[in-house]
Amino acid sequence: MPIHYYEKSKSFKLDAKDTSYVIAIVDEEQFLGHVYFGEKIPDENVNYLMRLEEPPFIPSKNNRDRMSFLDSFPTEYSTGGLGDFRESCLQVMTKSGISACGIFYNSHKIYEGKPKLKGLPATFGGEKDCTTLEITCMDKNLNLEVVLIYTVFENLDVITRSVRVKNCSNEDIILTRVLSACVDFDRIDMDMITLHGSWARECHICRRSVNLGKQGISSARGESSHQVNPFLAVMDKSATEDSGEVYGFNFVYSGNFFAQAEGCQFDTTRVIMGINPFDFAWKLEPQEEFVAPEVVMVYSNSGIGKMSRTFHDLYRNHLIRGEYKDKKRPILINNWEATYFDFDTEKLLSIAREASKLGIEMLVMDDGWFGKRNSDNCSLGDWVVNEYKIKGGLKYLVDEVNKLGMKFGIWFEPEMISPDSDLYRAHQDWCIHIEGRVGTLCRSQYVLDLSRREVRDYVYESLRNILLSANIEYVKWDMNRQLSDVGNSILPPERQREIWHRYVLGVYELMDRLTTEFPHILLENCSGGGARLDPGMLYYSPQIWISDDTDAIERLKIQHGASYVYPVSAMGTHVSDCPNHIVGRITPFETRGLVALSGTFGYELDITKISQEDRNMIPKQIAMYNKYNDLIRGVHRIGNSFENPEFYCVKYVAKDKSEALVVYVQVLNRPNYHSRRIRLKGLRKNAFYRNEETNEVYSGSTLMNGGFLIKGLWGDFKCILLYFICEQN
Ligand code: DGJ
Repeated sequence: MPIHYYEKSKSFKLDAKDTSYVIAIVDEEQFLGHVYFGEKIPDENVNYLMRLEEPPFIPSKNNRDRMSFLDSFPTEYSTGGLGDFRESCLQVMTKSGISACGIFYNSHKIYEGKPKLKGLPATFGGEKDCTTLEITCMDKNLNLEVVLIYTVFENLDVITRSVRVKNCSNEDIILTRVLSACVDFDRIDMDMITLHGSWARECHICRRSVNLGKQGISSARGESSHQVNPFLAVMDKSATEDSGEVYGFNFVYSGNFFAQAEGCQFDTTRVIMGINPFDFAWKLEPQEEFVAPEVVMVYSNSGIGKMSRTFHDLYRNHLIRGEYKDKKRPILINNWEATYFDFDTEKLLSIAREASKLGIEMLVMDDGWFGKRNSDNCSLGDWVVNEYKIKGGLKYLVDEVNKLGMKFGIWFEPEMISPDSDLYRAHQDWCIHIEGRVGTLCRSQYVLDLSRREVRDYVYESLRNILLSANIEYVKWDMNRQLSDVGNSILPPERQREIWHRYVLGVYELMDRLTTEFPHILLENCSGGGARLDPGMLYYSPQIWISDDTDAIERLKIQHGASYVYPVSAMGTHVSDCPNHIVGRITPFETRGLVALSGTFGYELDITKISQEDRNMIPKQIAMYNKYNDLIRGVHRIGNSFENPEFYCVKYVAKDKSEALVVYVQVLNRPNYHSRRIRLKGLRKNAFYRNEETNEVYSGSTLMNGGFLIKGLWGDFKCILLYFICEQN
């Protein structure tokens, strides 16, 4: 059993693949303490690690210094207001204005499998993969029940956490913060990694020391955000890609979040993660429950690379669902960068005709096909086909595309409303707004209030009608602004702060309805690129458009950072035109293809206008994607584009180590330094590998220790693809 309760030591031991996590019930009052998180250990009792025999003794022995105890005790789930002055996970507001709480162990249960979280996305696993521990704690003063839920994935170094809070009193209680995870590390000598950026520059890696005080990340934008991903890792200061202890935390949620590492006075570090308490409040009536979203915790004893591969395995097998979970995704051509709003049926068909000849499998019609939308300033909400542009109607267009042997996909931005739309003219109050204030526009649009059922129903019916009207096999679900002016005229004042979370639940409900009624449709999420690159979205859509920046060189960093957490099979990647529309850079078509190979391959350019030379490369690129798609799983990052901007190298190895693919991009050439040794990773030491192109054979051990010599490439932005097949063991 991967979860044990030891009566003698009153401790729980959670054993994942190579990981142990230990919790103990301490003292007569039954404080719940965090004892250990790290490499797997066999011992039944390691409670001595909590240093409880040292002053400030536990309260039953010295209640005079109860505060000192609370302020240093490694708690399993922190609560504030009574003497623990570090960051709190739980805070309330009672009818009499009290905010403090304190929780104590009450009971527990251990069972096989993993529970669903009502209305929320979460990782899943069967009885064979997963075991769950629920520890029920009570604040007897408030009559508040707090259930800490832990699931262990036995074959992965993964433990997930979430929290359920129930009001057992007979008065309303307002929750003003409910975070999902807290880990008190008994050390401070650590580094921390987070992923930052902006629109078109997502997931840039930021590594810094954990210092005394609080260092954290958050989003208060109503979405995960371009600016920072809901991911945080702490690690040995010496941890590298392949060595050292690393602890990764990722939030399975797509709205406001908060994560922090707090270096504390006794050289401990408290890591917390959950819904951002900023502007959050949730009223619990008697007997009502609140469920906090899931945090995934990954432990690696072999560096950042192993942490990433664990996240990837977990998300590919236990988060992503549906028909396309393990299936090769159709190679698409999207018309956004090709035409922007300036297209009609004939233009789209001309692209499709050319694309089908070259082996592209799906045409995606992006923004601009509905209402009277010829720019981004109108019509969101009016999901009616514009027959001036789509002459002959949607069905005609889709049928014509299908006749070419291609699938058809369509773009929606279901969560938005343009002030210049029939929908707005009919229902001004359907957008999120504050009565009496001029609403803040962004890209000329407001956000629909998806906390309201009638609004969700309208949105769903509009989508459904379009999807039923033709053979649509893919949907790109876009979301192009952040939430502001958060309020509505429906909820009572004490429930207004719930809108942030109710909105996210509304989005999830819509996606759930869509994927349930249309299980054959491939859903791709997008939020102006990667503002919703998060595991919450991956639960509904197996792929996410990770950035509006399609420049191959910018993408090296974006994809590198994103691969810290998210599987390559979930990242939308396209070959686009040059000069690149975002940065004006000119790169070889071949390099653009090779960079896009690390994702769900596609094109986003006017294929009728590119040079014959580039066009000739497309069938080869498609063959390459089809050949290597299954292999692009076990990622090993070789150079780090943030530390060494001159080159980029990533390697994919089959799970059984029988094949390996290396993508190498020379970003900038250097005089007198043309060739570079690349040490491969993850091969079998004693096996021999044949380079498919040259037929030269190398031992795994030489490739990993001596390396492979990439001969001088002349010029910038040049690339090489190497494919090694295991010949003999
Ligand atoms: C933002 C997306 O990221 C783009 O790919 C495109 O779909 C535009 N929106 C359309 O408005």
